[in-house]
Amino acid sequence: MLIAGNWKMNTDLPKARALAAGVRKAAETAGDVEVLVCPPFVSLDAVCQVMRGSAVQVGGQTLYPEDSGAFTGEVSAPMLRSVGCSHVIVGHSERRQLFGETDEEVNARLVQAHLHGLVPILCVGETLQERNAGHQQTVVKEQLAAALAGVDIAEAADLLVAYEPVWAIGTGETASPEQAQAMHAFIRSWLNDRFGETVGVDIAILYGGSMKPHNADELLSQDDVDGGLIGGASLKASDFGAIINVATGYTA
Ligand code: 13P
Repeated sequence: MLIAGNWKMNTDLPKARALAAGVRKAAETAGDVEVLVCPPFVSLDAVCQVMRGSAVQVGGQTLYPEDSGAFTGEVSAPMLRSVGCSHVIVGHSERRQLFGETDEEVNARLVQAHLHGLVPILCVGETLQERNAGHQQTVVKEQLAAALAGVDIAEAADLLVAYEPVWAIGTGETASPEQAQAMHAFIRSWLNDRFGETVGVDIAILYGGSMKPHNADELLSQDDVDGGLIGGASLKASDFGAIINVATGYTA
């Protein structure tokens, strides 16, 4: 089980430090549950320092697929590594929808993350329109295929997938446990076909979209749900800690 917080564009530096300290404390009883936080870029260094000596890992929210150069405003994989990041989110629906990130660009970011030893958290998920039309599996399959083009089995061993139905993000509406399980099982079987069962089966698939302390149990109890990628509820250490607590009930 892995419980990850995506802080998005929230928390200034003092708030990020305070939240990080709260998460560090909450994670003391996490046992075998892996805990990860993804703060805004400007707070990464400070949050890494707060987490030093604990098991809490830190990740970026995106990266640019070049090592360095004239790319004003962007942040590279070596930069993320240099402050102590272990993970990076790629292809979040907000990046795709608000910043026009294409499947090809998601693929380039994912390849770049692997190249520099960052574990990519690949986000996939359909819009409400696509679900209403019954196209959710086709959409997710195409996102997976495009994002993982050229990725080999050895690299796939270091990969996390997050199923985030766009209609459930920040809306308070969550996928039902059945909807989450059905899509996670579909993603798992796609990964098994693509990478073989020895690797595919081991790739953790996180659920994201209005996961809260009150619904975490029904989602995390599903067979193919290996954790959560949490937005809103990761901004309060007590809520995030409560979700971590739920997850501890599902570690072997
Ligand atoms: P919410 O938990 O706020 O719905 O956000 C989910 C998400 O987008 C995590 O990446």
